[in-house]
Amino acid sequence: METIRVGLLGCGVVGGATLRILRDHADELAARAGAPIEVVRVAVRDPERRREVELDPGTTTRNAADVVEDGSIQIVVEAMGGLEPARDLILRSIRSGKHVVTANKELLATAGGEVLQAAGTSGVDVLFEAAVGGGIPIIRPLRESLAGDRVRKVMGIVNGTTNFILTRMAETGESFAGALAEAERLGYAEADPSADVEGFDAAAKLAILATLAFGSGVVATDIPTEGITRVTSEDIAAAHDLGYVVKLVAVAETAGQQVSVRVHPAMLPRTHPLAAVRDVFNAIFVEAENVGELMFLGRGAGGAPTASAVVSDIVEIARNIVSGGRSPASAGYSRRAAIVPQEETLVRYYVVLSVLDQPGVLAAVAGAFADHGVSISSVRQEGSDDQATLVLITHLASEGRHRATFDQLEGLDTVKEIASKMRVEGTTEA
Ligand code: NAP
Ligand code: HSE
Repeated sequence: METIRVGLLGCGVVGGATLRILRDHADELAARAGAPIEVVRVAVRDPERRREVELDPGTTTRNAADVVEDGSIQIVVEAMGGLEPARDLILRSIRSGKHVVTANKELLATAGGEVLQAAGTSGVDVLFEAAVGGGIPIIRPLRESLAGDRVRKVMGIVNGTTNFILTRMAETGESFAGALAEAERLGYAEADPSADVEGFDAAAKLAILATLAFGSGVVATDIPTEGITRVTSEDIAAAHDLGYVVKLVAVAETAGQQVSVRVHPAMLPRTHPLAAVRDVFNAIFVEAENVGELMFLGRGAGGAPTASAVVSDIVEIARNIVSGGRSPASAGYSRRAAIVPQEETLVRYYVVLSVLDQPGVLAAVAGAFADHGVSISSVRQEGSDDQATLVLITHLASEGRHRATFDQLEGLDTVKEIASKMRVEGTTEA
């Protein structure tokens, strides 16, 4: 069989591990694909930089156009990251008849429609298993295995860096900054780690998951997003005392003809399957009409796991080239989803109030919740001597009603401050 010729854009954490697997497992992959697979061109920013895989000077270039414009290349693997020039390079590759594999969730969550439309027009495959959940197979299951079902909800821990940080803070008492530095050293974090800790990376992944799950396009800017930068060790300890763990969750669910999407830190009951997902692991919990509940678990970041997913896409495309076939289209990118406004999203909250310990305080606090139709599920008072702490958990109510309640509480003379508040997910109510 003729060799399948691959061009690599980027040879960092993901690209480097991809190159290593393609080299180390060449015979096995050739047998699976039906043809040998060879990386014939690699573009990097700095060819002199020391890296884990050795680059062949004869195939290495600092000019990405050398890959895109090489007429002999059949598959371009984009592992550079960022919006530009990645978007332009991918579109040029597609228009010149090359298949594309990308791990770039930011690009797909922003310009996925444009890229997949171009792929349809040119009759090429664009695959992106590595863009969500690192090494977890989740794109193919949503696109193919669940094609006969109706997905109702997707809830996941989809960012390895933040899960690693929250696990370290909870289990070893490590600082936020120390855990983030370690995640960067291990190759988990994005080039700009604020994408991880501010929740944007998780939002980009949720946009991809929601688009595939519900068959209508969700983009990153549709998603109300909060990261973990305001989560404190005290929040994590308080959650632990109440039987919860703190996780950065990404949630997408259908609401009639609309789609509700959100990314934020949340308290999950310790008994919830996602609560046990530690360290760099990710998990995606899917609820569908007929199959019921499914969970996909695995390493969500890092070179080798992510490259496992990239190589699976390369093999799929190589098989298509050999057989003359095409991969199933990624439905959902041709139309936009109707999004539930954030104020109408139904949530529960855990709220900690610092209050004066005097008659009538509890009634005033309860009144603020009642005035906005937010029902209280549990309340606990701690402390005494002039000052007390009230810890409340609400029943499901809209974000808007909760926000109005918090505004009213802040205006009460007897409430010194809202010391902490966090959404609660994964209970039978939410
Ligand atoms: P990385 O380690 O920073 O690697 C980026 C690579 O792209 C480097 O080799 C860099 O060259 C090269 N590059 C950047 N700009 C270039 C340009 N203009 N021309 C030529 N080469 C250029 O990043 P990464 O962690 O591998 O991430 C790559 C992509 O995979 C991103 O989209 C990321 O979101 C995604 N991803 C990453 C992970 C993970 O765990 N790291 C997991 C899933 C998905 P130099 O080496 O010379 O600097
Ligand atoms: N920075 C990302 C994460 C890489 O930590 O999950 C995997 O997409």
